Amino acid sequence: MAFDVMEWLQLGIRWIHIITGVAWIGASFYFIWLDMNLTPPKQGGQKDKDGVGGELWAIHGGGFYEVQKYKAAPPTLPPHLHWFKYEAYFTWISGFALLTVLYYFGAEIYLIDKSIADISSDAAILIGIGSLVGGWIIYDFLCRTPLIRHQGVFGVVLFVLLTAAAWGLSQVFSGRGAYIHVGAIIGTIMAANVLMIIMPGQRALVSSAEKGEAPDPEPGLKAKQRSLHNNYFTLPILFIMISNHYPGTFGHEYGWAVLAGIALVGILVRHYFNLKNQGRAKQAFYLLPVSFVLFFVIAFVAAPKKVDLSEGPAVSFTQVQNIISERCVSCHATEPTSEDFDTAPKAVKLENRAQILREVTRIRQQVVETDTMPLGNVTEMTDDERLIIGRWIAQGAKAE
Ligand code: HEC
Repeated sequence: MAFDVMEWLQLGIRWIHIITGVAWIGASFYFIWLDMNLTPPKQGGQKDKDGVGGELWAIHGGGFYEVQKYKAAPPTLPPHLHWFKYEAYFTWISGFALLTVLYYFGAEIYLIDKSIADISSDAAILIGIGSLVGGWIIYDFLCRTPLIRHQGVFGVVLFVLLTAAAWGLSQVFSGRGAYIHVGAIIGTIMAANVLMIIMPGQRALVSSAEKGEAPDPEPGLKAKQRSLHNNYFTLPILFIMISNHYPGTFGHEYGWAVLAGIALVGILVRHYFNLKNQGRAKQAFYLLPVSFVLFFVIAFVAAPKKVDLSEGPAVSFTQVQNIISERCVSCHATEPTSEDFDTAPKAVKLENRAQILREVTRIRQQVVETDTMPLGNVTEMTDDERLIIGRWIAQGAKAE
């Protein structure tokens, strides 16, 4: 068996990306939860609570925890102050590394779909990286306008802009490439929020506390806004991270709209939990059923169009195998002839009858219901061939 360096490199980076992402998002959930559950401290307790704005008791892992949040800063700084930033930085770095290894080194197969836009790898990579930089510049600019004072309106504008980005990217990239870039834009905004706004804000707080000055509340407030934005980004970005398993989403004709719909579900669910944490579960109770219904409405609307494939001439297995040999086997073989792969991608081999029959369901998803395979349509499969395979499956996928 050939040693597949790229495969293992991807695996390693992806693993790191998931680990750091879990740590980051977990911390984001925890601190937003904490902030919303703080209660005003009871004065005259066993402790001097000067300057404490809120407190919270919790039990976890067999121990009691008492957390206090200061209105501004404690009278003296503790010797050890924990910062939360490396999770964010390493999630971004590993994410960008994965984007590079998979989508930029493999631009021709993963990023470009010639039937959507016939662009060069260099152009595609430039558009990709440009979208990350541009996304941050536009978002950061918006945050500096008076719009930021109207949370709801700000959220709607951001949502519309990101949907527009999803639409725009789907005009130049493969469905998958477009999705991953929307995810990368959001991830870049989130990490840049930490690097450029939240950390400097916290450094300002620490430095005025060290000097014993009353801190300027402005950087703290800004940091809090950005960290709340990051919190609302979490569920949509998690969906994008797993979306490449679901060709019915990114491979849909209106994949960008499917993405917007599912992102909205995530935002509503996040909103429900944020309100619930503030003790407003009763007013917000409708958000969960609404998101649940919305999710199934999207599933229903986005379902592949029913074409009556059983009509038309009978298709023989030989016809199908000929198409697959021509369009698929250069990659999906024990020893692929494609330069891009040393082993069969996802261990899907389509060299003989038994292998093809085993993959009928996935072939239908990848080739008939969506145009996900061949990747980037590098082997130039025609619509007619998709129709023939679709008919063969509709006729019972028989291997006579
Ligand atoms: C250029 C190489 C290439 C060609 C040609 C190609 N594939 Fe693939 N295929 C891949 C790669 C790479 C993956 C793994 C994608 C991923 O990372 O999710 C894959 C994955 C698959 C999967 C598994 C999808 C999943 O995640 O469940 C199926 C099924 C499949 N291909 C079928 C086909 C069929 C059928 C054809 C021909 C019509 C075809 N492929 C042509 C590269 C190719």
